Amino acid sequence: MAAYLDHAATAPMLAEAIEAYTSAMTVVGNPASIHSPGQNAKRMLEEARERVASTLGCDPIEVVFTGSGTEAVNLALKGLFWARPGRRILMPGGEHHATIDTVEWLERHEGAVVETLPLDELGRVDLYALESAIAADPASVAFVTSLWANNEVGTVQPVTAIAALSARFGLPLHIDAVAAYGQLPIDFAGVRNASSGVDGSNGIDGSGLVALSVSAHKIGGPVGIGALVLSRAATVEPLIHGGGQQRQLRSGTQDVAAAVSFAAAASISTARIDDEALRLARLRDRLVDGVTTAVSDAVSNGDPNPSGRLPGNAHFSFPGCEGDSLLFLLDAAGVAVSTGSACQAGIPEPSHVLRAMGRGELEARGALRMTLGHTSTEADIDAFLAALPGAHARAVLAGLADRVTSFDR
Ligand SMILES: Cc1ncc(COP(=O)(O)O)c(C=O)c1O
Repeated sequence: MAAYLDHAATAPMLAEAIEAYTSAMTVVGNPASIHSPGQNAKRMLEEARERVASTLGCDPIEVVFTGSGTEAVNLALKGLFWARPGRRILMPGGEHHATIDTVEWLERHEGAVVETLPLDELGRVDLYALESAIAADPASVAFVTSLWANNEVGTVQPVTAIAALSARFGLPLHIDAVAAYGQLPIDFAGVRNASSGVDGSNGIDGSGLVALSVSAHKIGGPVGIGALVLSRAATVEPLIHGGGQQRQLRSGTQDVAAAVSFAAAASISTARIDDEALRLARLRDRLVDGVTTAVSDAVSNGDPNPSGRLPGNAHFSFPGCEGDSLLFLLDAAGVAVSTGSACQAGIPEPSHVLRAMGRGELEARGALRMTLGHTSTEADIDAFLAALPGAHARAVLAGLADRVTSFDR
């Protein structure tokens, strides 16, 4: 592969994370065991928890290791819902499917009422709509949830303002920070403190930012481990019952080696975050300039202001093309990118994020996401820009796929 431009799907593991993983796997011991090997495993696990906590601005005890970002989101959303009397869930449009599918499940099975809040044309949540949805009947709201940054178009949400609104009305807030982690500084306590309720009681009563999800494989750590930062003030019902590990919130023998590797990736990516943000933004700008020069009708999506988007994200609509055609043609030329949106039963689906941003179906279908990370170089961008004109010309010729399949006829 000449160029990997899909770090938001999964990032190559950092060499230090592989080394930490493999050496920790040679150590025997269940961290719940009392004997010395067990206590040694526990020490390694708790050191890993401390290191991850320090990259998220929270206390180690607030870090609950999970099997993925998706599991962290499920624990936060189902756990908060089951622990509270309110039935309304407030969520911006264009969320990740980990959130959308979880709240839709709660709607189908548990009597939740999901209210989807509008996004503006750059992908930012409408704070006035959020405030009026809450103010209509605060007591009926179970929780508020939002992305920190959108995984498709890279738009950063006004997290502190969302947290302040939630705190003001005494509501818990979950933030999905999976796409933001490693690209933007995440400060759990900082957001909580900056958004405390009018009576200053935020943090005591479980309102405001109480839960935040991250995942290791997006930052150069291994697949198979994520974390939910859960404030001590929050009450959630666990999804998994058993040995009572991790404050009874996530039973099951803990994966020490994965946690150690996650901690290595978290420490390294956080230590480099400022330099990497500058480096990636420069590469991203080179890519964006190159695309707009090569394809005159390409539309750049998301916030054009660098402070409002992830440094490693570029997202375009190519009118008249199917995103999947472009993806396949670029792949054949050795360049890995993403459409960002799902393919349902082999049929390309328009991007639900662009639809939530008010775009028509045609623009929402010709979408392509390029995401950069720690292995990205100028040569990757140049390989992509060299392959794009030919791939675009052929994708235009192929046009838009017939959405009626042979199964429908
Ligand atoms: C914003 C966001 N949330 C959640 C997830 C799910 O994370 P995981 O792949 O660790 O389950 C992803 C992964 O693409 C994501 O981008």
